Amino acid sequence: MRTIEWDAGVVRLVDQTKLPQEYIILEYDDYLGVGKAIKEMEIRGAPAIGAAAAFGMALAAVKSKAGTRDEFLRDLEEASLYLGGTRPTAVNLFWALERMLRRARSSDIADLDLLREDLVAEAQRVADEDVVINKRMGANGAALIVDGMSILTHCNAGALATVDFGTTLGVMRAAHAQGKRIHVYVDETRPYLQGARLTAWELMQEGIPMTLITDNMAGHFISRGKVDIVLVGADRVAANGDVANKIGTYSLAVLARENGIPFYSVVPTSTVDLQTTTGEDIPIEERDHREVTHVRGVPIAPEGVQVANPAFDVTPHRYVTGIVTEEGIAYPPFEINLRRVVEKAK
Ligand code: MRU
Repeated sequence: MRTIEWDAGVVRLVDQTKLPQEYIILEYDDYLGVGKAIKEMEIRGAPAIGAAAAFGMALAAVKSKAGTRDEFLRDLEEASLYLGGTRPTAVNLFWALERMLRRARSSDIADLDLLREDLVAEAQRVADEDVVINKRMGANGAALIVDGMSILTHCNAGALATVDFGTTLGVMRAAHAQGKRIHVYVDETRPYLQGARLTAWELMQEGIPMTLITDNMAGHFISRGKVDIVLVGADRVAANGDVANKIGTYSLAVLARENGIPFYSVVPTSTVDLQTTTGEDIPIEERDHREVTHVRGVPIAPEGVQVANPAFDVTPHRYVTGIVTEEGIAYPPFEINLRRVVEKAK
C-alpha cells in the first residue's frame, strides 16, 4: 500500500516506528490521532507529513458538527493550529494546511456536506499529486546518474517519506529501472536510524545494491573515492538555496566539497519556502532526548547526562551543487532559479 491513504473516512498509515521488524498499519479517524502520528513519527518525511496534514484536515471537516459556515471554518482553523504544532521544520506541513484552509475559505459551495466532500477530495489530490511529482523528480534526477555510479544518502527520502516512490530514492528507483548499475551507501542516521531501518529496507525490497554504514564512516568512504555523488532530501529549502535536512546532512555536504564530488538535494517544489530568506530563519526541531540516550528503548548513556537533539541542520547553499525538483534541476544562483521552478509548478 501507499505510506498513507484515505479509506472511507479513516486515515490508514504504515507505522514507521516499528519497521523493519514489523509492518503494521495504523488507522485514525480524527485529526488528533493524525497529529499524534506525525509528532511521534509513525509517519515522517516532509512530503508524507504534508499528506498526513491534508488528510487530518479532511477528518476535521468530516467530523465537524458545525451548522454554519463560520463555525465550520473555525473548526478547521482549530485543527490546523493543532496539526501545525506537531513538527516545525518540515514546511510541507504548513504548505498542506494552508492549501486545505485556502480551499475551504475560498469555496463557493454553500452546502456544508458538499464542502466536507470537497475537502476530502482536495486531500486526496494532495496525496495523488505527490506520487506524480515524485516520478517526475525521479526522471529529472536520474539524468545525473551514470552507469556504475556510487551514491551516498542520509536519512530516508524514500516511498516511506512520501506518499509513494520517494524523492531521493525515486531518483535511485528511476536510474535502476533505466538499467543503470548503481550502488548506494546508506548512512544509518543517528539518532532515529531512518537510514538503517527504513532506507535499507526499501532498497533491499527494490533489489538496489547497497551498503549500510554508520554516519561516521562517510568521510572514510568518500575520501577513498568510493562515492561519486551525495543525494539527500530536505525538510525545507530557503529562497537562497540553504537546505534544512536531517541532522548530519551538513557534514556530508562539507565532505562532498572537500573531496570534489557533487551534492544534490531532491525535493518537490512544495518543500521550497520562498518566504524564508535564508537557512538561519528555518526553525530547527529539538526532539526528545531519549532518542539520543536510548536506542530502540535500550539505554546507552549514563542516566541524567546532558543531551542535545536537534533533528535537522542547515547546509549553506554554497555547498549545494543543485536542487532537483519536479520542474527540473535548479542550479546557482538559487535566488533566481528556485523562484523559477516554483513559478513553473504553479
Ligand atoms: O525526522 P524525519 O525522519 O521526518 O526527517 C526526514 C528527513 O530529513 C528527510 O530527508 C526529508 O524529510 C525529506 S523526505 C523526502
